Amino acid sequence: MATKLDPWQAVDEYLGQRLLPADPVLEEALRSAAAAGLPEIAVSPAQGKFLHLLARICRARRVLELGTLGGYSTIWLARALPADGTLITLEAQPAFAEVARTNIARAGLADRVEIVVGAALDTLPNLKERAQDPFDFVFIDADKPNSLEYVRWALQLSGPGSVIVLDNVVRQGALADPTTSDENVVGMRRVFDFLPTEPRLSAAALQTVGVKGYDGFALLLVQD
Ligand code: SAH
Ligand code: DHB
Ligand code: MG
Repeated sequence: MATKLDPWQAVDEYLGQRLLPADPVLEEALRSAAAAGLPEIAVSPAQGKFLHLLARICRARRVLELGTLGGYSTIWLARALPADGTLITLEAQPAFAEVARTNIARAGLADRVEIVVGAALDTLPNLKERAQDPFDFVFIDADKPNSLEYVRWALQLSGPGSVIVLDNVVRQGALADPTTSDENVVGMRRVFDFLPTEPRLSAAALQTVGVKGYDGFALLLVQD
């Protein structure tokens, strides 16, 4: 018996056929990551394009990403940069970073992207010490239990007008379950407890459905 697609999968396919022309570089990034045994948890193509457009809308010149995996979202974001723009992406697993390095080079973006290998909470302080310009776009997509710490770091490393996006905030709806013991969800709930207490951030969050199931993004704007 043929399984019927969830309507949101069919719609993702429909939208992809019209909005996402064939992209051998991105497709190879996913293929090579799967072949190397990386978990298949990259953002979807539609989400990648969405992040890319957000970064362009922000006219982002300096992008920070937490959680590189095989570099799929990295490529979408780095493609939003002007020629002199830079993206720094943080990845805990050296083997994942190697896959990403190859994919980013194949995308012709090696000159704009720096991969920093190590647990983000260990490498973020070095970024601060480098005293570069603030990041104007931060994509947080690493381990979920540390999400609040990552939001605090993103805030420290950005400035007024900077935009911070968090992936995977809804988790099949588990976000709204106060009894959850899932540390990923508890981590996200900590972020949503913090946001109303932080006057420098104005926040929105949207639930999403698609090929990755039911989840969501949070969008944070750093205010003056
Ligand atoms: N942004 C990627 C997906 C990232 S998946 C994309 O959409 O294409 C989450 C990644 O975070 C994994 O590669 C995982 O190894 C990495 N990660 C987990 N814990 C981390 C930590 N403490 N510091 C940095 N990266 C971490
Ligand atoms: C997981 C992590 C992600 O970043 C994601 O987009 C989906 C799933 C996970 O760890 O299960
Ligand atoms: Mg994610």
